[in-house]
Amino acid sequence: MSTARITVDREFVVGPVPRRLFGSFVEHMGRCVYTGIYEPGHETADEKGFRHDVLELTKELGATVIRYPGGNFVSGYNWEDGVGPVDQRPRRLDGAWHTVETNAFGLHEFVEWSALAGTEVMEAVNLGTRGVDAARELVEYANHPGGTALSDRRIANGAKDPFDIKLWCLGNELDGPWQIGHKTAGEYGRLAQEAAKAMKFVDPTIELVAVGSSGRNMPTFGSWEHEVLTHAYDEVDYVSMHAYYQEHDGDATSFLATAVDMDAFIEEVVSTIDGVKAAGKHRKQVDISFDEWNVWYQTGLDTDDQPHNVSKGWVEHPRLIEDQYNVTDAVVVGTFLNSLLRHGDRVKIANQAQLVNVIAPIRSEQGGPAWRQTIFWPFARMAALARGEILRTVVTSDKIDTPKYGDADLVDVSATWDEESGRVAFFLANRGLEEAADVEVALRGFSGARVTRAELLTVPEGGDRFTSNTEQAQDAVGLVPLEGVSVDGGVARLTLPALSWAVVELEVGTA
Ligand code: AHR
Repeated sequence: MSTARITVDREFVVGPVPRRLFGSFVEHMGRCVYTGIYEPGHETADEKGFRHDVLELTKELGATVIRYPGGNFVSGYNWEDGVGPVDQRPRRLDGAWHTVETNAFGLHEFVEWSALAGTEVMEAVNLGTRGVDAARELVEYANHPGGTALSDRRIANGAKDPFDIKLWCLGNELDGPWQIGHKTAGEYGRLAQEAAKAMKFVDPTIELVAVGSSGRNMPTFGSWEHEVLTHAYDEVDYVSMHAYYQEHDGDATSFLATAVDMDAFIEEVVSTIDGVKAAGKHRKQVDISFDEWNVWYQTGLDTDDQPHNVSKGWVEHPRLIEDQYNVTDAVVVGTFLNSLLRHGDRVKIANQAQLVNVIAPIRSEQGGPAWRQTIFWPFARMAALARGEILRTVVTSDKIDTPKYGDADLVDVSATWDEESGRVAFFLANRGLEEAADVEVALRGFSGARVTRAELLTVPEGGDRFTSNTEQAQDAVGLVPLEGVSVDGGVARLTLPALSWAVVELEVGTA
């Protein structure tokens, strides 16, 4: 049996849990919007065409903020195409995903859908093919109360009250050669600075995210953030990070340890931001918006239906990157959430990409059902239970020896303490493929703990690490009770089966 010892102390706090860490992403891509959140005529759809089965799952997932409308899509998008009478909206070619965009769904629909879902809108502007003017006009259209041409146009289009969108992305992945309107760091840094300035002239209350690197492996990673922030540090509030991971060549051990890479990536971006801050003698702090992250099996990208769907010709909402997630993926996603939470003093926003169908925790079929993928569970539980303050976790664990990352802790953890409810929550993963792990959690500064929740996601009986939820077996992988959790003398004890993710919540007093 492997072992791990975790210590938390009520006084050792990282910072408040940023509620925006539990964000998601809706892009006009594949079937995320069309036949995902929106499908007029579906048996659960309302008069607006919003699918209520997907809406209910979105609420259960607990997403707090949703980025929209892209992604690569936004870099060729005219926001004006998606407002006004639907029958007058233009059909357009979306070059990013080689798709016909009908524009039946646009800004008003997304804002209305978000209100029903109880989620904050995070709106991206197009800095690929467009620039300062379109960006500031969109802010005026969305946020200005009225009495100007653009705000009155919003009112005429049915929205009397301003949308009051606080969070805005200054484009998407403009460091990537695949991006429509790809730029050098210097070109983008100046454009982001000027767009930010003009957008804040319209509404000084908004918060802005500058585009960071599309991944840690980008050739310009580091120098991109440095140059962009050297131009735009004073005008922006966050810099973005994007990361997608997958299992390569059957190396599950390295895959299970990829949060090690995520940790390092975050710490490198923090260093770069702070270096620019010091060199520029800036006072304010820029933080991180990790606004695309997930498991994504990108090695399948060159097959028939991916990446740009060219082989299918120009069609509406084709099936694109509908990855089916298994038990291993769910454990890995649990460790990504741990990494984000552990860095919650600097990562203030994070968006799992995406919400429905496209590399998503929720799947739906046109005219058919919607269901939860395996990765739904760690996200839903953490979004619901990570409250109050993030606690620093000190871990002494047996190691797994990974080909890619060397030694990594067998047991990965994050923890929160909510004074209001008197609850401490632990989010744990056992990365070992073969062995269970005996875990001891020492609770310093707390007294009289009682277990209020203990749930587990692991390989189901008769399944294996590749078991997934499908249309036919929607609940093959879910949460089951984690038996045998005990607390005695300020120490909680539990056993994590091999390849598992768990949440343990304790009601505690303060010592
Ligand atoms: O989420 C899918 C795509 O991944 C997004 O459109 C893009 O920003 C990223 O490369």
